[in-house]
Order: sequence, then structure tokens, then C-alpha cells
Amino acid sequence: MSKPELKYVNSILFVCLGNICRSPTAHAVFRQLAQSKLPNIQIDSAGTAGYHTGAKPDKRAKSAGEQRGYDFSSISARPVVAEDFEHFDLILPMDRQNYQDLIDQADPQYHYKIVMFLEFAKNYPDVDEVPDPYYGGSKGFEYVLDLVEDASHGLLEQLS
Ligand code: 4NP
Repeated sequence: MSKPELKYVNSILFVCLGNICRSPTAHAVFRQLAQSKLPNIQIDSAGTAGYHTGAKPDKRAKSAGEQRGYDFSSISARPVVAEDFEHFDLILPMDRQNYQDLIDQADPQYHYKIVMFLEFAKNYPDVDEVPDPYYGGSKGFEYVLDLVEDASHGLLEQLS
């Protein structure tokens, strides 16, 4: 399946399971990195499951991200909805289960928009998933940030 033409990407949706740890981190990191180069790009995040709907980002994810200078304001959890597949130009799942859940939910005409986020990473060629840090310790949140920062830089380079 071919990817969307990256030069026509104006909106990006980051997706994980709960939308409280990984995808809000990607949302906050990419929003900040893109600010000067792509000021008009629309960025959002969502979860394949809706059980944290309305929740602010997980405290551990937020504090790890804030220590690296990222701002999590105005980010709160919501589930992926059918309109997202039409609306967003690029939909970036964090792990293979997220990818499969999105493929199962989306009309096939939109499958080309769904691309594993770490396809854009440069320093982790052998890693294809951002692992779920929810049940682990603080190292997991640092590793999420390492992967997310790397893939965000790679994505930004390809878009600008
Ligand atoms: P996320 O992490 O998908 O990165 O937001 C999780 C958050 C919550 C749960 C699982 C993963 N949970 O089972 O509640």
C-alpha cells in the first residue's frame, strides 16, 4: 500500500490505545517541533479504545515530556471516530495492534493514510513499535520520548 503524498499532508492524527500516554506524547512533541516550519499543519491524537475519553494525559507521560520541554496543554483523550479517516491526511499508529485496529475500522479507501509512526524514525531502524508504557516504570516513558522525538524529526524532515 502506498503512503499519502507527503507534500500534500496538512493534518496528522497520532493514535495509540488509550490516548493518554504515547499518542499525546507524539501530539505534544510533534506540535512543538513543527511550530516554526509547518505553522498551519493540524495535529491531533486519539485512541483506538474510548475508555479514557476526556482524561488529561497520564501524569507520568506528562511529567517526562515536560522535563524535556514539551507542553501538553489542551490535550485530552478521545476515541478514533469514523470521520477521522476522511478528515486526516496521515494517521500514525504507535504499535502493530493499533495499526490493525485502525485498518479494521477504516473504509479500505482510507487504508493508504495509515502508516506506522516509526517508519519515520531514523536512529531506530530495527524498532517498529512504540511500546505501551502504561504498566511499566519510568524508563518506559523515557524510551517512548526517545522514539517519538526521533520519528517526529524524521517526519518533519519529510514534510518540509
Ligand atoms: P496508551 O497507553 O495507549 O499509550 O495511552 C495505555 C493507556 C491506558 C491503558 C493501556 C495503555 N489501559 O489499559 O487503561
